[in-house]
Amino acid sequence: MSAPDPTRPVANQDITSILVEDRAFAPPADFAVRAHLADPAAVRALRERATADPVDFWCEVGRQDLRWTKPFTVGLDWSDAPHARWFADGELNLADNCLDRHCQTWRRHKAALIWEGEPIGDGGPEIRTLTYGQLLEQVQKFAAVLQSLGVAAGDRVCLYLPLIPEAAVAMLACARIGAVHSVVFGGFSAEALRDRTNDAGAKVIVTADGGYRRGSLLRLKDVVDQALVQHGGAPSVEHVVVVRRAGNEIAWAPGRDHWWHERMAAAPAGLAPVPVPAEHPLFILYTSGTTGKPKGILHTTGGYAAHVTRTARWVFDLRDEDLFWCTADVGWVTGHSYVVYGPLSNGATVLMYEGAPAFPAKDRFWDIVQRHRVTVFYTAPTALRTFMAWGEAPIVAHDLSSLRLLGTVGEPINPAAWVWYHEVIGGGRCPIVDTWWQTETGGILIAPLPGVQTCVPGTATVPLPGIVADVVDNAGHPLPADVGGLLVVRHPWPGMARTVWGDRERYKQTYFSRVPGIYFTGDGARRDRHGNFWILGRVDDVLNVAGHRIGTMEVESALVSHPDVAEAAVVGRPDPVTGQAIVAFVTPRAGVVTGPPLGEALRGHVTKEIGGLARPAEIRFALGLPKTRSGKIMRRLLRELATQGTVTGDTTTLEDFGVLEKLRVTDEE
Ligand code: PRX
Repeated sequence: MSAPDPTRPVANQDITSILVEDRAFAPPADFAVRAHLADPAAVRALRERATADPVDFWCEVGRQDLRWTKPFTVGLDWSDAPHARWFADGELNLADNCLDRHCQTWRRHKAALIWEGEPIGDGGPEIRTLTYGQLLEQVQKFAAVLQSLGVAAGDRVCLYLPLIPEAAVAMLACARIGAVHSVVFGGFSAEALRDRTNDAGAKVIVTADGGYRRGSLLRLKDVVDQALVQHGGAPSVEHVVVVRRAGNEIAWAPGRDHWWHERMAAAPAGLAPVPVPAEHPLFILYTSGTTGKPKGILHTTGGYAAHVTRTARWVFDLRDEDLFWCTADVGWVTGHSYVVYGPLSNGATVLMYEGAPAFPAKDRFWDIVQRHRVTVFYTAPTALRTFMAWGEAPIVAHDLSSLRLLGTVGEPINPAAWVWYHEVIGGGRCPIVDTWWQTETGGILIAPLPGVQTCVPGTATVPLPGIVADVVDNAGHPLPADVGGLLVVRHPWPGMARTVWGDRERYKQTYFSRVPGIYFTGDGARRDRHGNFWILGRVDDVLNVAGHRIGTMEVESALVSHPDVAEAAVVGRPDPVTGQAIVAFVTPRAGVVTGPPLGEALRGHVTKEIGGLARPAEIRFALGLPKTRSGKIMRRLLRELATQGTVTGDTTTLEDFGVLEKLRVTDEE
């Protein structure tokens, strides 16, 4: 076994695989005996059946897991490929599935959401619990509020909120009336919010006066105000609904702005769910691609609902007595699928925590696990590596014995972090589900079924039943074991994205052209001789920083929009904590003085244009960038330099790429 390497390079142009790992963890007997899927032979048979006929398999899931107002008779309609349609002649409502159907059972009085705010007052943190019945009432009322503001089925509503219960209420209220939500993560800037609002043509923005993160106040309403007035604003927006969360002073546009609590107090109760066709749009979620413009990934109702409901139950082995904590913000797809829709559709109890892991001290997460008796915990490898760096003292002070299952998502987990997670957080007794998926896939595609599968640190193991994933070469031919290639999915699945909002051609180009007709994930992978998939990272110009997807082009466009910048190239370098870190090579305009002040100015500019998550870790000034004969920037050289080069920080001397230029032998990168 090789030594686990936390700085394992994420493969890019060369899809290489250097990791060999042969530690294996079979499901603990006491876990397996109670799991939803506990019989290996039955699961083998299920997999065979699902592989032989994925459509039939997913139809059964759709029928078993969801309540339909009109049952579907058609499984997959691929006639408009690559724009899939699932269960297209059926009708349902996802809020009905997440709320009403549970409220007609004993679960009406079961906790749906247990929420904890970040600030800690004299009486401890603020905690709010909403039962299924209470959550339904809130959702019914907010659906009525949206209707009173003119929102009808198909209209877009932008949600720019802290991680508070109102975020889930607003999402479900949209679903209840067939409106399409577009959640924009609260860390995005006014510019990013405006672009997304305009692209979606949102009629209403739902926000809060402020939210809390790391002890500071995030003034969200101010950002909305900026987005609505600067650079042409967002003309489609007619109303802004504001949750009073932090009590900070805000500007007010009478007629346009409405307090959430005032509108809710006046709203009628009992609004019935509006049944929609299965292919009715549910949400748009913007994600980074290889151009400067983020893509609005569109998900629809029935197929997405079936996928997230079943995967939440199987992968997290959710049971009524669980308290499931997925630490993701609802601004990301993980928050959509596994904070809100998947768990609630299963009638589970979800924990939501507003803030940061280090506030007020580095044990906040473990304090929460202990106080609330969390049983299933799902987080990102970056968080785990951060906890590792903080040492075990904040952890061992807490009783984590309630935990029974752990999960990870968002980036490859290095075996050292996996084993640490298993031992230090899981006390050696909890299986770990490493879940591979994407904004575009809607739900989990590759992950262990924890009651039956042996986990190997570093691999998400094998595709779930009904998912036909493969590792192929550029021509689409399957590759043998242990050879790195492109990760593709050969057969449509119900949770897959339907298109890029407003740009069908981009959807086809981005996902179905590299290997014609087959969904290309953008990731490299290899399969080992046991069939386990090892994700090798992105093979396109997309970075994964702390589990967040950031397109290099997006950061480059932000940099070149600064008046002092002539040209910029952005690459990733491995980072022991965040997986990858952003390094920007910048050619300043003539006469501009380079150095740390300019570096800071440019970092601030990127933060303003996109948000803090895209802030470069390092800015390096260059006289010119190395290019191919056809003028393409030689990113591979820049990546090597960023990874192996000795210069760090904002260098005051300009780097001369003349030497590198001599290495230019082909037109390739
Ligand atoms: O590169 C893969 C990585 O995250 C990308 C998807 O990012 P996003 O759409 O933001 O969704 C993240 C949450 C689902 C993938 O293309 N990724 C996600 N999960 C894993 C992963 N890489 C390795 N292992 C994973 N478990």
